[in-house]
Amino acid sequence: MQKLLIDGKKILSGSINISGSKNSTLPILAATILNSNTTIKNIPLVNDIFTMLNLLKFIGLKFKLSKKKNSVKVINHNNNINTVAPYKLVKTMRAGVLVLGPLLAKYRKAKVSLPGGCAIGTRPVDLHLYALKKLGAKIKIKNGYIFASATKGLIGTKFKFPKISVGATENAILAAALARGITIIENCAIEPEIKDLINFLKKLGTKIKIEGRKISIEKTLTEKKISHKVICDRIELGTYLIGGALTAKKLKLKNIEPNLIKKEISILKKMGVKMNINKHYLEVYKSETIKRININTSPYPGFPTDLQAQIMILMTQAKGLSKIKESIFENRFMHVPELKRMGAKIEIRNNTAFIYGPSLLTGAEVMATDLRASVSLVLAALIADNRTKINRIYHLDRGYQDLEKKLIKCKARIKRV
Ligand code: EPZ
Repeated sequence: MQKLLIDGKKILSGSINISGSKNSTLPILAATILNSNTTIKNIPLVNDIFTMLNLLKFIGLKFKLSKKKNSVKVINHNNNINTVAPYKLVKTMRAGVLVLGPLLAKYRKAKVSLPGGCAIGTRPVDLHLYALKKLGAKIKIKNGYIFASATKGLIGTKFKFPKISVGATENAILAAALARGITIIENCAIEPEIKDLINFLKKLGTKIKIEGRKISIEKTLTEKKISHKVICDRIELGTYLIGGALTAKKLKLKNIEPNLIKKEISILKKMGVKMNINKHYLEVYKSETIKRININTSPYPGFPTDLQAQIMILMTQAKGLSKIKESIFENRFMHVPELKRMGAKIEIRNNTAFIYGPSLLTGAEVMATDLRASVSLVLAALIADNRTKINRIYHLDRGYQDLEKKLIKCKARIKRV
């Protein structure tokens, strides 16, 4: 198993190109099931994307990946389609369940493995199934699989999600794109990645409107040759922004849309982080004094749960008590015991972390537990005294393209062994 060895306390400087969004590319890849000839640009070359491509291949789609151009062309000949997402692919990446909506909409049946447990919480799929049932699907759960069918096709309807879910909103939109008539869904997630999926579907002719948390979808989709460039990865951007605030003489983050992280920028500014913001790049500097702050994670436009572990590292360097209330996932503080081994002073009570700073972090052998927890350990290692050894880094490869390369180019001392 590979590990990262990181020697901390190096001052970083240089520039980093931010990759395309993983969480945008995944539902857009699922949406290629609806079309015959799609090119997707600015895709991140990370393992979750390769898993989704393998799933599309299993289903019967063909793809040509250009690693040089970060793009993929997906062709759906509509023959030899296997409307199944097997356990071996869905268990390694829960986003595999996103093929359920498009398979059901286009081929009127699907058999998709239930994703199972996850390090950050139970993560059920009841809301995905709720939406598909509202659209007229018949659903049965048997032998660990979801069996869905709609023999006469899905039918547009009106419903409200009882709880906000990114994935369930995406699955519902993907299914509604081929449902007869108009679908109106209330209490939707409205993350930038969902808006990117909507922009993709609009290129296929689907009429979609968003008003607040209400999304209406009208079936007007046609098969077309289309090309789509995914938005930048706002979580990768936020991660390096925090990294820069912790370590950099000057770190320039390029290929970005600062508008995607307005909330994060305002919080970091309140903490005293200095930055220059331009239309397509952003420069960040290490702040000598970091101010304490309290944050709650919540659905967009709130503070993202996917940046909770990273901002916690900045809080360990702030003067006084900072608090983070994790409102999305029930078990997303797995990085805390590892950070405590590095000298952080953090207490967890229910779903709130109390971070007492500033504390001097020291290198230790630690273990990564999920994607964002892993990257928070990398950030901690960059400011720690001595060497940190991070085990189980395969999580990082699921979502951060060229992490070490990008950091080494900015003078970090990192080695993968
Ligand atoms: C997406 O996961 C992201 N994944 C996650 O990013 C992100 O943390 C999460 O949204 C929240 O922003 C992708 O986009 C591929 P949810 P998703 O459904 O869609 C509960 C990362 O690190 N829920 O919005 O699975 C659920 O348990 C990943 O890149 C139900 O109760 O998240 C959670 O408490 C990790 N029933 C809450 O809703 C359901 O049917 C929000 O989850 C579905 C969800």
